[in-house]
Amino acid sequence: MNIQTIMVIGAGQMGSGIAQVCAMAGYSVYLHDLKEEFVEKGMGIIQKNLSRQVEKGRMAEDEKTAVLERLTSSTELKNAEKCDLIIEAVVENMEVKTNLFKILDEFAPEHAILASNTSSLPITEIAASTKRPEKVIGMHFMNPVPVMKLVEIIRGLQTADDVYETIENVSRKLSKVPVEVNDFPGFISNRILMPMINEAIFAVYEGVATPEAVDEIMKLGMNHPMGPLTLADFIGLDTCLYIMETLHEGFGDDKYRPCPLLRKYVKAGWLGKKSGKGFYDYQ
Ligand code: CAA
Ligand code: NAD
Repeated sequence: MNIQTIMVIGAGQMGSGIAQVCAMAGYSVYLHDLKEEFVEKGMGIIQKNLSRQVEKGRMAEDEKTAVLERLTSSTELKNAEKCDLIIEAVVENMEVKTNLFKILDEFAPEHAILASNTSSLPITEIAASTKRPEKVIGMHFMNPVPVMKLVEIIRGLQTADDVYETIENVSRKLSKVPVEVNDFPGFISNRILMPMINEAIFAVYEGVATPEAVDEIMKLGMNHPMGPLTLADFIGLDTCLYIMETLHEGFGDDKYRPCPLLRKYVKAGWLGKKSGKGFYDYQ
């Protein structure tokens, strides 16, 4: 399947990164969010990232201009009519995602693939909200998208082989490494990563060590680039909580129970780096 125009829905930290790498790979891209100001914020992040590439001598100024020209702001879902691939990167909530997929199914051309960047939610259930479940797939990028090489590709129960192959090829064109997994809660990446983060939060909750000590131990002792609590703040504590809830509900095992401290922080609006406060301060 020939993909030329991509729509990225959600201009937050993931959506802006996905739109950036798609435009850099030569695709025409619509970056969509609920309000113009949200799209502008995402576009601002992209401009800053590209300017850094130019300053470092890795990108020519006219190349930057060409990448930016391939990006179009959108607040109208009707723009999906012009797209071959739609990548959804909105909040990690099944109801929000299925409502969106129902609308996209109406607007997107028949041949278009609907992909979700969900961290943990069942692709099969998202697909069932559309009349084209064979064209729905998980395309899970890692944060920060311009830097991280992996795209975890999740096959829903009904995802067609040619759709999988198309998404594998698009991922390679984005200079990413695709890895195939089946549809199970948290897939592979977050089934393994998120219980570690949750355990680190439990260690702080139980007073075993400070966040600084936990992070220092995992950085220096295990060679992790970021400690688990710095990483949780970086991912977003709301996203971490929603992923743990999906694992807990999906497997029904107490080992996935979200730490009460994580719930408390999210209820307080302490969402990590994006809100200015989490386990650390970012003012
Ligand atoms: N956007 C774009 N580029 C970024 C960036 C961002 N948010 N943050 C860092 N970079 C770039 C920097 O510009 C720098 O690029 P150059 O080498 O070209 O200058 C490069 O990344 C390294 O950055 P720094 O030197 O500033 O810092 P660092 O060496 O500590 O690396 C990091 C930063 C790459 C983020 C590193 O700390 C890291 O790998 N952290 C772990 C990230 C991780 O685990 N991600 C997965 C999260 S889980 C997930 O995404 C799945 C999910 O569903 C929740
Ligand atoms: P974010 O909060 O930074 O951004 C979400 C964006 O979606 C916001 O700009 C919001 O305005 C927009 N949005 C919400 N509802 C919308 C709707 N109905 N229509 C259009 N736009 C809408 O979140 P994020 O961290 O970018 O995460 C987005 C998705 O990517 C989630 O599913 C998350 O699980 C997944 N993900 C996150 C990470 C991470 O490290 N943060 C990594 C991989 C995948």
